[in-house]
Amino acid sequence: MKRYAALTGTGAFVPERVLTNFDLEEMVDTSDEWIRRRTGIVERHIADDDIASSDLGIEAARAAIKMSGIDPLEIELIIASTITPDMFFPSTACVIQSRIEAMNAGAFDLAAACAGFSYALHVADGLIRSGAHRTILVVATETLSKIVDWTDRTTCVLFGDAAGAAILQTSEEPRGILSSYVAADGVAGDASVLGLPAGGSRFPATQETIQNRMHFIKMRGQEVFKIGVRVMAEAALIALEKAGLQPSDIDLFIPHQANTRIIEAVGDRLTIAHERIYINVDKYGNTSSATTIVALDAAIRAGQVGEGDKILLVSFGGGFTWAGTVIQL
Ligand code: ACO
Repeated sequence: MKRYAALTGTGAFVPERVLTNFDLEEMVDTSDEWIRRRTGIVERHIADDDIASSDLGIEAARAAIKMSGIDPLEIELIIASTITPDMFFPSTACVIQSRIEAMNAGAFDLAAACAGFSYALHVADGLIRSGAHRTILVVATETLSKIVDWTDRTTCVLFGDAAGAAILQTSEEPRGILSSYVAADGVAGDASVLGLPAGGSRFPATQETIQNRMHFIKMRGQEVFKIGVRVMAEAALIALEKAGLQPSDIDLFIPHQANTRIIEAVGDRLTIAHERIYINVDKYGNTSSATTIVALDAAIRAGQVGEGDKILLVSFGGGFTWAGTVIQL
C-alpha cells in the first residue's frame, strides 16, 4: 500500500507582548528606519520572563489537534523543533507530551535551527510513508528573546518568539507532503558565523562565559545573508523537482521569514510572483523554526489556501541547515 503524510491540522501561538522598533530605539543605538529598510521587520512578540518554549508549543499543539479533530491519545510521536528548549533535558517534546496528555506518543527534540520545521516534516514523512507511525505531531517552538543579547544591536532587532504545530496522518490519497529535501554545510556554518557558543559541553557555563556574553546568539549577518539566498533558492528547486512540479504550479510560497530582502531575492530567483509569496516577518521578526508553520497556519485559517492547493516551504538557518517541502492540502 502506498502511504502519504497528510496535513490534517495546524496551529500557531504568539505571546501577547509586542516589542516595536520604536521600543528598540530606547534600548540600543538603532532606528525604526534602519530596521525596516534592512530587514522589513516592524514589530515582534516577546514572551514574559516566566514563559518557556514549551508553553508556546502547547498552545500551538492544542490548536492543531483541535483542527484535525483527533484525540491526543491517537498521537504516536511528537517531534519538537527548537533551538531554545526549556532545558537540556527532559526534552521540550516530553514536556509538551505531558501537558497535552498524549501518553501514547514517543517524544524527542530536533535541532536544525531555522530549518527545523521542514527537517521535522522530513522525518515525519519518512516514518508515515514507511508505516512506522500513523499520527505524528510536529511542533516548532522558539523563544529567541531568551538567547538574544539585548545590548547587541546587530542581532537583537531581528528575532521574536512564536510557535506553530502540525498534525500529520497516514493517507492513501497522494496529498500532504509531496516531497521534501534537507541539506547542511557544517563547514561554512561553523559557530563563529552563526551560533550560540556557550552552555553546552564545549564551553559549560562559567563566570568567564557569562562575562564574555557567550550565552547569546552570535551572527555575521552579511555572510549568512549571501549563503541564505543561494541555498534557499536551491532547496526550493530541488523540492519542486522531487515533486515533479515547476515554480508556476505553486499556489503559495512560504519562505523562512528572516528578512524581506532575502525573501524577495529568493522569489526573484525562482520567478515566483510577489503576490504568491507569503510575508509576515514585519509582524513577528525571525522566529527561527516557527516562521514557516506560523505563516502556513495563518494562510489556512484566513482561507488564502485550501484543499488541493500546493504550498512550497523553504528555510535556512544555523548549522548551516536548509530544507524545502512541497505540501498539497
Ligand atoms: N541599527 C542601526 N545600525 C546597525 C544595526 C542596527 N540594528 N545593526 C547593524 N548596524 C550597522 C552596522 O554596524 C554597520 O555599520 P558600519 O557601516 O558603520 O560598520 C551597518 O549598520 C551595516 O551593517 P551590515 O551588517 O552590513 O548590514 P546588512 O545590510 O548586512 O544587514 C542584517 C544586517 C539585517 C543582519 C542582514 O545581514 C541579514 O539579514 N542577514 C541574514 C540574517 C539571517 O537570515 N539569519 C537567518 C538565520 S538565523 C538562525 O538560524 C537563528
